[in-house]
Amino acid sequence: MTEHPKILVTQKVPDPAYPLLEAIGDVEANMEEGVIWPYEELMRRGPGHDYIYSLLTDNIDARFLEACAAGTAHLKMVANMAVGFNNIDVEAATRLGIAVSNTPGVLSDTTADLAFALLMTTARRIPEAERYLRAGKFKGWGPLLFCGVDVHHATLGLIGAGRIGKIVAKRASGFEMKVLYYDVYRMSPEDEATYHMTYMPMDDVLKQADFISIHTPYMPSTHHLISTRELSLMKPSTIVINTARGPIVDEKALVKALQSGTIAGAGLDVFENEPAIEPELLTMENVVIVPHIASASLKTRTLMATMASDNIVAHFHGQRPPNIVNPEVLG
Ligand code: DGY
Repeated sequence: MTEHPKILVTQKVPDPAYPLLEAIGDVEANMEEGVIWPYEELMRRGPGHDYIYSLLTDNIDARFLEACAAGTAHLKMVANMAVGFNNIDVEAATRLGIAVSNTPGVLSDTTADLAFALLMTTARRIPEAERYLRAGKFKGWGPLLFCGVDVHHATLGLIGAGRIGKIVAKRASGFEMKVLYYDVYRMSPEDEATYHMTYMPMDDVLKQADFISIHTPYMPSTHHLISTRELSLMKPSTIVINTARGPIVDEKALVKALQSGTIAGAGLDVFENEPAIEPELLTMENVVIVPHIASASLKTRTLMATMASDNIVAHFHGQRPPNIVNPEVLG
């Protein structure tokens, strides 16, 4: 165990995360809120640290990990403050003996809330109606004014039925929705009954659902899982919601499907090349877009922030980090 480890925190995070780290080591932190260090800055600062507290905006690739493993201190762990860890080359980390951790569970409800909020706001055209009203265009109630589609009793198709997908299904049951799902892992009959979820092959879910909500992790096998072919299977009235990771949906294909009326709308929290966004999405009235905020309640972000610190502290004390992603490095 290093006596007094050096810890690098790459973005400003909720305050309670810092004292936990300061209690065990020297903390170097980016304290400028909203400032994301570019890759070269990370490369300059990373080597020499025992622990890196990272965010999903950090490209923790093999080159970076190799530089950190060869630094004055061999990097011991990367603690990502996110459930997703597709920003980290876990294979390279494992090869170099570097532990990786994430923050699962604590953000599931908050993320499911936002997925449902996007579903409702897109269906009921709330941002579009609000823009209209704020622009002074509201001249009185109209029978056809901003008619959207019903959420209640509609069919929801979940692509991915892990922690977050299941909670979205629970939200949907309050709206008496029928919930179909596809996942590479089929749930037990007991769980399917508990969550009122019906398994179907993905194409059937895409064909039957009024709303498609995506909840798979991003990995090579889910890159562009939803592209031109999948969009063409959907009904022209379908609304697609993505709170998972941008590249799961082929963003250019999505734009075309929205422009051509292949589908009716989209509610998006994540984008293929964040922070860049396909420019057409910014001007389409049938698209609701927010800047990757699905887990952004202060309570949840604080839980995520302290969880990432707890993983580092546990590793420092020679314990198994509670959310280790590559336990094989612990030997
Ligand atoms: C995650 O944790 O992976 C989210 O995308 C950030 O909230």
